[in-house]
Amino acid sequence: MNKHKQSRIEVMNFLGKKIDSIIDEFLKKIDTNWQPTDFLPDSSSENFTAQVKELQEQCKELPYDYLAVLVGDVITEEALPTYESWLMDVEGITKHDPQGWAKWVRMWTAEENRHGDLLNKYLYLSGRINMRQMEISTQYLIADGFDIGTSTDPYKNFVYTSFQEMATNISHRRTASLAKKHGNLQLSKICGVIAADEARHAKAYKSFVSSIFEVDPSEMMIAFEYMMRKKIVMPAHFLRQAGEAIGTTFTHFSDAAQRLGVYTSWDYTEILDSLLIDWNIGNISNLDEHGEKARDYLMALPERFRKVAGRGIKAPLEYEFNWIN
Ligand SMILES: [Fe+2]
Ligand SMILES: [Fe+2]
Repeated sequence: MNKHKQSRIEVMNFLGKKIDSIIDEFLKKIDTNWQPTDFLPDSSSENFTAQVKELQEQCKELPYDYLAVLVGDVITEEALPTYESWLMDVEGITKHDPQGWAKWVRMWTAEENRHGDLLNKYLYLSGRINMRQMEISTQYLIADGFDIGTSTDPYKNFVYTSFQEMATNISHRRTASLAKKHGNLQLSKICGVIAADEARHAKAYKSFVSSIFEVDPSEMMIAFEYMMRKKIVMPAHFLRQAGEAIGTTFTHFSDAAQRLGVYTSWDYTEILDSLLIDWNIGNISNLDEHGEKARDYLMALPERFRKVAGRGIKAPLEYEFNWIN
């Protein structure tokens, strides 16, 4: 593309032309993709009650914090309507022609939708969760929406989604290995297949950013810097339980995740590290003055995070979630 400064729309339209091959590369064919039912007891089978009993048996030993984190993960996944509608509003993503990016968002949403569906059904069967309270929190989170600080800028949004898909990959992977540790192989498998989806999605969003770096490097760099200065907030940062103010429960949820080691401030820094490598930030040189400043800021950031990460860690207190029986 040419030398004069291009608009986001121009860049998105240019990249959107390849959307079908992008979808082929990063998303699975629907007919053969796994579905939640593949990992759940079959309610039409004679053995259904025996299978549920076995499932409940396997959930007996799961610790309190673990369940709290899993519920928070499910609610985060179930708030998918918020994410889809947010992305549909991003510049260059349109339901009118050219429709390329809207197709991506719909097909990504359709894959993601299996995550909340599967985990929700599993927790319902587990007998350990106060489903009504979990459902209230889910309804609140969707009703409250979110503000991830990206506005409608596609560059900032793709930084956000790259980061988030990596974060959810890490946390589902860790809940998978903890489930295994507590002898629950079925739940471990469930969290594992979800984690694999998130890894695939992370690759996709990271590739979008890489492509933008090729055609609009300075603006892409400045958008990346903007998001890291602002800090990446989690999609469930408005999480709350019945009777609480917006966001109250989120702190306790992330404290529990930190205590368990499912997702920590070290992970945040490590995700940043790997994005700097994947996008080859240190070697991007065709930048204007602002782009260069942004690149230098970004390259120095992990070291700064590491210096404070050790200091800030309090011993987060146990908290009583109303989601757990
Ligand atoms: Fe997901
Ligand atoms: Fe995801």
